Amino acid sequence: MKVLVFGRLSGPAAEKLASVADFSQHDRDMPLPEAEIERLVGDVDAVLSEPLDGITAGIMDRCPRLRMISNRAVGFDNVDIEEASHRGIIVCNTPGVLDDATADLAFALLLAASRRVCEADRYVRQGRWTGFKSDLMLGPDIFGKTMGIIGMGRIGRAFALRARAFGMKIIYTSASGRREKENSQELGARRVSLEELLRESDFISVHCPLKEDTRHLIKKKELELMKPGAVLVNTARGAVIDQDALVAHLEAGRIFAAGLDVFEDEPNVPERLKTLDNVVLTPHIGSACVDTRERMTSLAVDAIVDAFAGRQPAHMVNPSAWEKFNGK
Ligand code: GLV
Repeated sequence: MKVLVFGRLSGPAAEKLASVADFSQHDRDMPLPEAEIERLVGDVDAVLSEPLDGITAGIMDRCPRLRMISNRAVGFDNVDIEEASHRGIIVCNTPGVLDDATADLAFALLLAASRRVCEADRYVRQGRWTGFKSDLMLGPDIFGKTMGIIGMGRIGRAFALRARAFGMKIIYTSASGRREKENSQELGARRVSLEELLRESDFISVHCPLKEDTRHLIKKKELELMKPGAVLVNTARGAVIDQDALVAHLEAGRIFAAGLDVFEDEPNVPERLKTLDNVVLTPHIGSACVDTRERMTSLAVDAIVDAFAGRQPAHMVNPSAWEKFNGK
């Protein structure tokens, strides 16, 4: 069995994969053109991919041996799931092991954007600080304010725990409505419509996956419903927010600030965004913690080992493809 690993693989996970497959690694710093991905995938049976690697229907067509895509990430919008399912190509992801790391980064962005941490750091370094002033670098209070969480899956709930510890009231949207009772009892969180969330929240954090119905979920109309002093955080996927509309909104000072870890066309970040003081920008590092990344890698490798041993992997995105995969 041949496996292509995008990114790095070392330690026990590499040994485990090597015990069942002949694998090659391809590390890269930027998104590769489709033709290059296709060339690298070639005649492998499985690919271990990451959010950077677009696995399209065209690649699946031209790499007919490909039977599995194990995505080292919880999000899988880089893979054409429908087309994979048609072809009996199974797709796996790594949920449940990066919730705390991602929620931590979202909270870090919330605090940094609200309390102007990066702007204040630049101010000191540039030698502009002349002494204590009672109106220097004011930002909104956090305690007692309303936190709106868009998407109350595992990461949304981990984020809610942090918001609760900071004394915030929590409202949220959830497409599935799962765990509504626990969310209410354990987190004091109330499920509301998107419109109510946008109108009522002092802080908003995005934690839903990118799907057809969440692409540009937040655009001009939704931004206009937000409170003028609101702070918006996104650690999910850039395209959940219409980035151009957000930039215009921030430029006009229509919300207080934003903290963004994800962008519509990564790694491209609009110059206009980079010049704004009321945004904190990080390079898609939501789950970038040592232990977390090890757990993600281990899940991604286990999925490949299990699938090719005839055991259904723990986290299949398209379980309907299993029968076809296993029957091949
Ligand atoms: C990272 O973005 C992930 O989806 O895990």
